[in-house]
Amino acid sequence: MTILGIETSCDETGVAIIQNDSKTKKINLISNIVASSLSLHSKTGGIIPDIAAREQVKYIIPVLESAIKEASGGKMVNDQWSIVNKIDAIAVTVGPGLIGSLLIGVETARTLSYLWKKPIIPVNHLIGHIYANFISEIHNSKFIIHNSAAEIQFPAVALIVSGGHTDLVLIKNHGSIKWLGGTRDDAAGEAFDKIGRLLNLPYPGGPSIEKEALKGNPKKFIFPKPMIGSGDFDFSFSGLKTTVYREIKSLKNLDGQTISDISFAVQDAIVDVLVKKTLKAADKYKVKSILLGGGVAANQKLRDELILNTKYLIPYTEIFVPQKFLCTDNAAMIASAAFYNYKPVDWRDITVNPELYFY
Ligand code: KG4
Ligand code: ZN
Repeated sequence: MTILGIETSCDETGVAIIQNDSKTKKINLISNIVASSLSLHSKTGGIIPDIAAREQVKYIIPVLESAIKEASGGKMVNDQWSIVNKIDAIAVTVGPGLIGSLLIGVETARTLSYLWKKPIIPVNHLIGHIYANFISEIHNSKFIIHNSAAEIQFPAVALIVSGGHTDLVLIKNHGSIKWLGGTRDDAAGEAFDKIGRLLNLPYPGGPSIEKEALKGNPKKFIFPKPMIGSGDFDFSFSGLKTTVYREIKSLKNLDGQTISDISFAVQDAIVDVLVKKTLKAADKYKVKSILLGGGVAANQKLRDELILNTKYLIPYTEIFVPQKFLCTDNAAMIASAAFYNYKPVDWRDITVNPELYFY
């Protein structure tokens, strides 16, 4: 089966094509294009929904064309139709996200579904992040990468950590997801972004803080790790932001080394809470796999700590992390989610739902 995915829930515009290999049961990524209006948002230190949507209107057709071209190995225009003919279905993010942005993806998918006479599959963006783990091989003109994602077994616990969400879910099987807990205030990525702003670091704060933390002195600052010992699977990150704000106010000047030292402590506090709660959930439900997803999952310290602690503390559980470029928003994960949760709808019936949560 070949699925074309479309993702426009926030500021990215993504189109990807995946193909499953019926023999190996793996999902091959044959093209993946993402355009971002990040540079425009760096100027304002955050996403302005109107600007994001206007940029997406400009990007969507060129990104679609590029994805089709990449899947055709960059060949002549006529050959591109052979790929289009192979597409069995169109998958699109319907929520959660920014309404204007979501509409651009959904209206494009609806048009293609009508024009190409292909079924359309609505996908929950958060579930999409989980399914980045199921993309096993990347085949395109540039590279081939293999990993063992086809080995994922249920039950599994997934930690979804992005700019808008921090959630722990129990997955009993494809389509059977139970929410265990989530953030009570800021999401982990949101905390990184807001603290990055307090530290005058470039937007988005997550990758900037990760970079600064590499130069940080681990002993200089130690911040509280919110809710680390609470008996539930909830998180809270807004207190950390306030602590950092107060710390900065009390300093005479915020020099480069201090920014790095604070960055280290911030990353340490966020990662520690995420890892402890995820392992606690995995242990409680005796899961076979832990899956990581969302933009914050690109953080190397989070990946390392999660892998290390899983192997050491609950060695009977396998841990899976998507390749970094599949952690931040992309359409490949949306197509992958649609493949494993194949529920087509009529193109007339598809609607956006900015408030969509877990089923
Ligand atoms: O999943 P995503 O691309 O978009 C949403 O669905 O929100 O996540 C974006 C978030 C931002 O908050 C960004 O700061 C964070 O992911 N992020 C990171 C890293 N790369 C992206 N956070 C920590 N370390 C990173 N390397
Ligand atoms: Zn996302």
